[in-house]
Amino acid sequence: MDLKNKAIVITGATAGIGFQTALDAAHAGAFVIGVGRNPQRCEEARQKISTLSPDATVIFLTANLASQKQIHSLAEQIQQTLADHHLNALDVLVNNAGMYMGKKIFTEDGIETTFAVNHLAPFLLTHLLLPLLSKSSSGRVITVSSDSHYRTSFIPEKAKNPGLFFGLMAYKVSKLSNILFSYEFNRLHADASVHAFAVDPGLVNTDIGMKETGRLASLVWRSRKNLGVSPEVPSKTILFLAGEPAVSKSTDIYWHLCKPKQPSQNATNPALAKRLWKESCKLTGLSLPEGY
Ligand SMILES: NC(=O)c1ccc[n+]([C@@H]2O[C@H](COP(=O)([O-])OP(=O)(O)OC[C@H]3O[C@@H](n4cnc5c(N)ncnc54)[C@H](OP(=O)(O)O)[C@@H]3O)[C@@H](O)[C@H]2O)c1
Repeated sequence: MDLKNKAIVITGATAGIGFQTALDAAHAGAFVIGVGRNPQRCEEARQKISTLSPDATVIFLTANLASQKQIHSLAEQIQQTLADHHLNALDVLVNNAGMYMGKKIFTEDGIETTFAVNHLAPFLLTHLLLPLLSKSSSGRVITVSSDSHYRTSFIPEKAKNPGLFFGLMAYKVSKLSNILFSYEFNRLHADASVHAFAVDPGLVNTDIGMKETGRLASLVWRSRKNLGVSPEVPSKTILFLAGEPAVSKSTDIYWHLCKPKQPSQNATNPALAKRLWKESCKLTGLSLPEGY
C-alpha cells in the first residue's frame, strides 16, 4: 500500500474515524485535505496532525455538508487547493462525515438531515469531484457505511421526508444508501479508472452518539461506545482501500478489517440502487446518466 504523495480528501476529519484517518494518511506521506463543519475544530485538528506528523502537508477546509450550496463551494475550494499545490488530480475521496439525529430536522434544502448529510452529501461531493478523481491513475471513492444497514428497507422517494421519524431508522437507511451508492457507482463507471468501496468500521469508540442525538440515545451511546475499537482500526481498512493496488479491479463493495464482507441483499439490489440514484439526482440537481 503506497499513499506517498497521493492527494486524499477526508470529510469529517475533525473527530473520530475521520481525524484518525487524516492523521494516518499524513504519516504515510499523503497530501491530506481534511473537511470539517466548524472552523475552530478544523484548526485544532490541523494543528494536532501537524504536531504529530511535522513533515505532513495537511490543509483543512470548512463546509457544513448539510448544505448543498456549501458542498458546491467546497468542491471548488478543493480544486483550487490542489491547483495551488500543482496537483491536477485527486486520488482518493473518503466520504466519512456522518451523524445521528434524534429529531426530524430539515436542512436549508428541505431534506431530512440524516439523509442529507450521510447520503446526499457523499453523492453530490463525489460527482463534483469526479473530473479530478478521473485524472488519477487509480481514483478511489471510499464511503464509511455501517452494519446498521442490515435488516433495512426503504422507499427512496420518501427518504427526503419520512412520514414517521425514528433516528435509528433514518441512520440505517442512510448507511444502506452508502452501499447502494457504491454499488451503482461501480456499475455506471465500470470502464473508468475510479472505483468505489463502502466500509464497515465496526463499533468504534467515538462521540458520534453524543452530538445531535437527544438525551436518551446519548446516555445509551456513552456506555456502548466503550465496547468499541479505537478509530485506528477502521482507519487501517480505509487507507488499505485507498492505496492497495490489488483492489482496483475488485468487485467486492463492502469491506471490514481489510477484507471483503457480504452486505445485505438490499444493498446490492439493482432496482433499489437505480431508484435511489434517480431520487438522489433529483434532490441534488444532477443530471441522470444518459438513457437511465
Ligand atoms: N462510531 C461508530 O461506532 C460507527 C459505526 C459505524 C459507522 N460509523 C460511521 O463512521 C463515520 C464517522 O463517524 P465517527 O464515529 O467517527 O463520528 P464522529 O466522531 O462524530 O465524527 C464525525 C465527523 O463528521 C463531522 N460531521 C458531522 N456532521 C457534519 C456536517 N453536517 N458537515 C460536516 N461535517 C460533519 C463531525 O464534525 P464535528 O467534529 O464538528 O462533530 C466529525 O468530524 C460516520 O459516517 C458514521 O456513520 C461509525
